[in-house]
Amino acid sequence: MIPESFIQEILNRIDVVDVVDQRVKLKKAGANYVACCPFHQEKSPSFTVSPSKQFYHCFGCGAHGSAISFLMEYDGLTFIESVQSIANQLGLAVPNDQSNAKKDKADDFKLEEILKRANQHFKKNLRSSELAINYLKQRGLTGAVAREFQIGYAIDDWQGLKKEFENYEEPKLQTAGLVQKNDSGKIYDRFRNRIIFPIINAKGNIIGFGGRVINKEDQPKYYNSPETPLFKKSYEVYGLPQAKKGIREDNNILIVEGYMDVISLYQHGIQNAVATLGTATTIYHLKKLIRYSKKITFCFDGDHAGKEAAWKALNTAVEILEDDYEFYFLFLPEGEDPDTFITKNSIQDFKKYIDQATPLTEFIVKRLTEKNELTSQENKIKFINNFEPIYKKINSNKYKIFLIKRIADLIHFSQREIEKMMSIEPAENYSSSQQIKYSSSTRNSLTAKRKYILILVMKPELFNGDDEVFFQSNLVEDELFKQIKKLLEENGSNIRNTASLLHSLVNKVDENILGELQKQMMDYSDNIDLLEEFKGIQNSFSHQLNKSQQSQQFAALKNKKLSELSDEEKEFLKNYKK
Ligand code: UTP
Ligand code: MN
Repeated sequence: MIPESFIQEILNRIDVVDVVDQRVKLKKAGANYVACCPFHQEKSPSFTVSPSKQFYHCFGCGAHGSAISFLMEYDGLTFIESVQSIANQLGLAVPNDQSNAKKDKADDFKLEEILKRANQHFKKNLRSSELAINYLKQRGLTGAVAREFQIGYAIDDWQGLKKEFENYEEPKLQTAGLVQKNDSGKIYDRFRNRIIFPIINAKGNIIGFGGRVINKEDQPKYYNSPETPLFKKSYEVYGLPQAKKGIREDNNILIVEGYMDVISLYQHGIQNAVATLGTATTIYHLKKLIRYSKKITFCFDGDHAGKEAAWKALNTAVEILEDDYEFYFLFLPEGEDPDTFITKNSIQDFKKYIDQATPLTEFIVKRLTEKNELTSQENKIKFINNFEPIYKKINSNKYKIFLIKRIADLIHFSQREIEKMMSIEPAENYSSSQQIKYSSSTRNSLTAKRKYILILVMKPELFNGDDEVFFQSNLVEDELFKQIKKLLEENGSNIRNTASLLHSLVNKVDENILGELQKQMMDYSDNIDLLEEFKGIQNSFSHQLNKSQQSQQFAALKNKKLSELSDEEKEFLKNYKK
């Protein structure tokens, strides 16, 4: 286990804004930074990162946390890997208690170990299967490329993996998606008599498999691993580790549809292609890929289905579009996929298609004018109606301004008129109108007690263990406050900012309560002098306490006879009436 004090230390030192901004481009909005939330689909940014509080919060989906949790969610790291990654960035070595560290690692990587072993097994099978080797040869693959992509073969046997895994019943084999149980409880291999394509992530770990039939009669043609803890098909692509070098060299990523397209292109010298895995491209795919290259070229078949798929991809791409991104759409001749095309033609022929691919903005115009000649007012209105939902998904100011101009020229209206037709502010004012409005009303509706707790979390350094306010206002009975007080009393010197305090509260306080706490903190404007407000609350608590003590005293004294009262008590009654 990593010592808690080290985790506090890195949370005190890392800037969550940097960590997020390296992955999701942030824009300044007042005291905070905003972006479209990477954890859910949205059109206007509600994902907010606070530099002063050192955490992020999404007003749309409620995602929230520190730099550590962001890396866990976004990069798919484990807690330990995430701490490791931040420590590296800070140039710190992670101290660890050996035995525990080993145990965590063993648990985390068990599934990966299983998949790795399964793949060794599939590769071994391939070496001794004439049938499988002949299939690959007949498709024109060389041994070198088969090795590069670690291609294997699952034999035609219901329990072929039993030879590799003695403990065939081990539930982890099911979790890994290698075997499944039938209705009568019998366990059998998921992949049988199929060519196996391991799906390998950027770190080089095998996370799943795709299997292609050899017999034409078998169905379905391709069968993938199910969703597992390691494999989520809306996040993962095929061929990324093999394509990394080519992507760097070409500054371009090709997204194709199939396993064989990636492999065949690679063999013919186009080495920057990846494939989605039997699904349409998602924003998560694009956000992952854009880290390797800001230019992405989608590759489609020139038929009707290809064009529809391209339009769908465009609608996804506009959701993450930034000023410096470039998306292109390439259409091969009808009936050809990248594999068949490159096999029949030359690499130069394919490169010509890449060079002549349609840019995103042009694809929008082409598509919307394909069946609309813009000859009547009605046609032009229809055109704007179709353009509007796409335009409104775009975040990038430059793309927005260029598109408005293009559209205005096309239908002979002014840019302002186009904007008015879509009921939007002029693009120049875009960023200010997009800013999230912090509701000061939320802050005003909080009780003094709640504000006191919030300010303590925002400024842990204000904590003073002897503050008599705790006892006056029943604060000590508040479960959340109790935990905060305990942590700050025990660990005050390690906890120097909000993120490290919040980190310590995880597992001690209900997740929903923490979520609410972060939301309320975000609603607190950074312009407020927290120290002043804190003192004010302390004073009003003191004042209230005095008043209630006095009224109690008054109640006790008022029925006494004058002769029974001390001088002090007489003095009190005299003053109390005033
Ligand atoms: P295609 O049907 O276009 O096959 O599927 P392909 O890539 O040309 O395959 P080959 O050349 O005949 O070997 C494209 C992709 O869609 C997914 C796979 O990821 C495949 O690579 N797919 C297809 C499935 O997941 N299941 C299927 O049954 C078919
Ligand atoms: Mn094909």
